[in-house]
Amino acid sequence: MQPFVFNTVPQLICRPGSALQLADSCRRLGVSKPLLVTDPGLVAIGLVQPVLAALDAEGLPAILFDQVREDPPEATVEAAAAVGREAGVDGVIAVGGGSSMDVAKVVAVLLGGSQPLASLYGVDQVQGGRLPMILVPTTAGTGSEVTPVAVITTGETTKAGVSSAVLLPDVAVLDAELTLGLPPAVTAMTGVDAMVHAIEAYTSKVKKNPLSDNLAREALRLLGTHIRAAVHTGSDREARAGMLLGACLAGQAFANAPVAAVHALAYPLGGHYHIPHGLTNSLVLPSVLAFNMPDAAPLYAELAEILVPGVSGGVEARAAALVLAIRGLIDDVQLPATLEAAGVPEQDLPMLAEDAMLQQRLLVNNPREVALADALDIYRAAYGATA
Ligand SMILES: NC(=O)c1ccc[n+]([C@@H]2O[C@H](COP(=O)([O-])OP(=O)(O)OC[C@H]3O[C@@H](n4cnc5c(N)ncnc54)[C@H](O)[C@@H]3O)[C@@H](O)[C@H]2O)c1
Ligand SMILES: [Fe+2]
Repeated sequence: MQPFVFNTVPQLICRPGSALQLADSCRRLGVSKPLLVTDPGLVAIGLVQPVLAALDAEGLPAILFDQVREDPPEATVEAAAAVGREAGVDGVIAVGGGSSMDVAKVVAVLLGGSQPLASLYGVDQVQGGRLPMILVPTTAGTGSEVTPVAVITTGETTKAGVSSAVLLPDVAVLDAELTLGLPPAVTAMTGVDAMVHAIEAYTSKVKKNPLSDNLAREALRLLGTHIRAAVHTGSDREARAGMLLGACLAGQAFANAPVAAVHALAYPLGGHYHIPHGLTNSLVLPSVLAFNMPDAAPLYAELAEILVPGVSGGVEARAAALVLAIRGLIDDVQLPATLEAAGVPEQDLPMLAEDAMLQQRLLVNNPREVALADALDIYRAAYGATA
């Protein structure tokens, strides 16, 4: 067996209603004045007020920062940190999707130490500690509540990651009640993102390990079982709980066995056209799977047995069944299937391929080597979905 290292959060609370019991965690962590980081959309639909009221009722009034933008820019991080610094907070809570959680993670570091934001990017660049941190996801997607990563938008078309075990929160709180109102399109996009995390962790070339494998398999089972119901019947509590746990397990898997070419080719689409992260993954997923087939077929065949129970045939046939199942699923949850349908200009494909090649940090994890010409072929296939 290959030696491996596995990091995750010290505590995971998975219980309906647990977002209304954050005071317990605050007390345990010695937090008396938390900063609550969220986005304006969640405030508008009334998701945040009960959490604030519950903290208030326990004598722990939170300072609210509710200005997180999707794909958060550095200015959002700095603004949240300024609010927290001004108020003298002693802990950070996020209630929201990957965008709010990623902002909270970096803010906890900025307020807990003296490093400037610019010095945090990259792997293991965080030197000091951080404020106590509790992350409460409201999307079933990024798994950010259990990953050591925060993704920040640094320029017009570029994002940068802060990657450090310091970013793992003290507590991750999975309360599926918060996800009941997640709109169908967001449910579909974030759900496919989570499925990609599971698939790419399972085939991750360098750090794949027995723990990440088991998490990825169970994540894919939960997500594959529940995604259609979660999209089409948002009030289905069992489906929502399955999705939230599935996304979290996929997050634990890829936090330790990193994602690869799907994410590498997805990032330029987010950067140039502001297509949501989950959809960018969905758009290139079937074509990357088809490209990887020569090297990944045996692992894809194993995953097919999870997504297509009773699938039969040899390795090639079962692996092909996985790609077919993914295409069917993308169709069922009503996401656009091609780059053309998503409005990506065909003449941009060579530029996108060059951009994707900059993601070597991710491409090294891919089961098959991706050269520039391959990236272009994958985008061409995804443009017309003919792979
Ligand atoms: N840290 C990581 O490990 C990691 C991994 C993957 C992606 N990301 C990052 O995460 C971000 C994407 O996060 P996301 O996909 O969770 O979306 P998000 O946080 O950007 O939210 C998307 C939209 O959904 C809405 N929303 C969220 N929860 C809702 C709910 N319960 N009900 C109704 N509306 C709701 C929000 O208001 C927002 O408008 C990107 O910036 C991406 O780069 C981070
Ligand atoms: Fe992702």
